[in-house]
Amino acid sequence: RRIVILISGRGSNMRSIVEACVAEGWPARVAAVIANKPDAAGLAWAAEQGLHTEVVAHREFSSREAFDAALAERVDAHRPDLVLLAGFMRVLTPGFVARYEGRLVNIHPSLLPAFPGLHTHAQALAVGVQAHGCTVHYVTPVLDHGPIIAQGVVPVLAGDTADTLARRVLEVEHKVYPAAARWLAEGRVRLAQGVVQVDGAPA
Ligand code: GRF
Repeated sequence: RRIVILISGRGSNMRSIVEACVAEGWPARVAAVIANKPDAAGLAWAAEQGLHTEVVAHREFSSREAFDAALAERVDAHRPDLVLLAGFMRVLTPGFVARYEGRLVNIHPSLLPAFPGLHTHAQALAVGVQAHGCTVHYVTPVLDHGPIIAQGVVPVLAGDTADTLARRVLEVEHKVYPAAARWLAEGRVRLAQGVVQVDGAPA
């Protein structure tokens, strides 16, 4: 299977997926890493690994539709079975989402459906939740919504700031996203009435 990863910045989740894919010998390979910003730091790392990298700069397009059309063209060139959003900070149009239905997956830094959108760690601290974490989910037209594939939970500790909490969540992101991507690459993830089932996982 062929995986395309979309990033906007640091790309630490992309890196965790690439490393696990190689180290664990998934039946898949990362065919391309595509960024919407030319200065996305993750691009340099990906290129150093010998991966194919590309930029589709959203700033060069006058509308979301035009950007998404150009992005889809570049993504399709790699014939992906799986398109993984990894810190990809653009809202995608319903047309883009529909085109990759069942193949488009995101990681969000909260336990969805709590705290969609931005500043999730500050949101979590502001309401005093005691557990927080991350969610890997299929992308649907509703932002940060969609069938949940995997979640990772961390405690919120006394004295946490948005930064310390973000760091704790990021560590678990780096475990949960590669695990979920591997299930997807192995063709073990099925949707039944909008709920994900993973073949071979305890019910
Ligand atoms: C992660 O926390 C991800 O969940 C969120 O943005 C951050 C991206 O980090 N959407 P990185 O680029 O993967 O290092």
